[in-house]
Amino acid sequence: MKTFRRIGILTSGGDAPGMNAAIRAITRTAIARGVEVMGIYSGYEGLIEGNVKPFGIRDVSNIVNHGGTVLYSARSPRFKTEEGMQAAMATCRAYNIDGIVAIGGDGTFRGATDLTARGVSCIGLPGTIDNDITATDYTIGFDTAMNTAIEMIDRLRDTSESHARCSVVEVMGRDAGDIALQTGIAVGATAAVVPEITFDEAALVAKIKKSREIGKRNFIVVVSEGMGHDFSERLTSRIEEETGVESRFARLAHVIRGGTPSLRDRLLASRMGEFAVDELLKGRSNEVICDCNNEICAIDIEYALILDRMYKNKLKEGDLDRFTKDQIAEMQATCAKRRADIESLYETVNLLGL
Ligand code: F6P
Repeated sequence: MKTFRRIGILTSGGDAPGMNAAIRAITRTAIARGVEVMGIYSGYEGLIEGNVKPFGIRDVSNIVNHGGTVLYSARSPRFKTEEGMQAAMATCRAYNIDGIVAIGGDGTFRGATDLTARGVSCIGLPGTIDNDITATDYTIGFDTAMNTAIEMIDRLRDTSESHARCSVVEVMGRDAGDIALQTGIAVGATAAVVPEITFDEAALVAKIKKSREIGKRNFIVVVSEGMGHDFSERLTSRIEEETGVESRFARLAHVIRGGTPSLRDRLLASRMGEFAVDELLKGRSNEVICDCNNEICAIDIEYALILDRMYKNKLKEGDLDRFTKDQIAEMQATCAKRRADIESLYETVNLLGL
């Protein structure tokens, strides 16, 4: 079994509320287990540059309640090159970093796999507001982003009601509609528009017209950014032109990525951080820590990445070759369940948003 002198922590990709709670949990768990910790700044870019600092228990004080990431984040095209990888490995050797917990999304996990293959044990933590990592039910930051979104949309509802308007609100989520759907239900939206489900614009126009006729004053339509460039603006114009309901468009964008993490995100991040360190110390690596039916569990990163590709219909030839029949069947079942969940949420928005 590998013994650890030091582990590093990095955050990579888009930041997410709760990342700091994870950094704190990883640091304090490792130190409690007798392992030193290095904070690696600005993701893989910091690893390449040697931008690292020893972290003690007090270095992570007063951060559990803050959004963003005290380790900063960056996207690192250099890390994808052999030269960048060699520089990253040199930093690990220079600072005796034998293991890394990398917090981020799928790009972060690919980096973790590359490092593991070169001898630095890595564990990934799912940190992204998008909730687009198929292997886990929840990602760190998703809950806070939705809570922020509902606060903003509730405000829009106030003014929409006063002026008898329709507010079309675009929320982040990359290619995933999770934020739009769950937020849509929580704010009582008339509709949520997401890339996973074919959207019937004419039906929405008819629904708004009918509801206006029977006295409804305000309408909220939540659109996921995955619908593409200018979709929301165009939909806003169409609603106004075809229903006669004055309409306004608001893009919440990065606003929902910041702010105080919710209880749920702090708890998830803390549990996952502790679990990740214990996995590393048990000699495990190349795993992503997941929330599976409210249990914290570890899933092989390769499995998680291929599962993601399957869910997103992006499988390449040979992707499934290394998996058993049972594993493939399990992946298919996970994808089917996730699709069914999305469809069910979509139906609920439509059913309740009258
Ligand atoms: O992955 C998180 C996320 O906020 C997505 O929702 C969004 O599409 C993207 O990152 C925005 O990236 P950037 O911060 O580089 O503009």
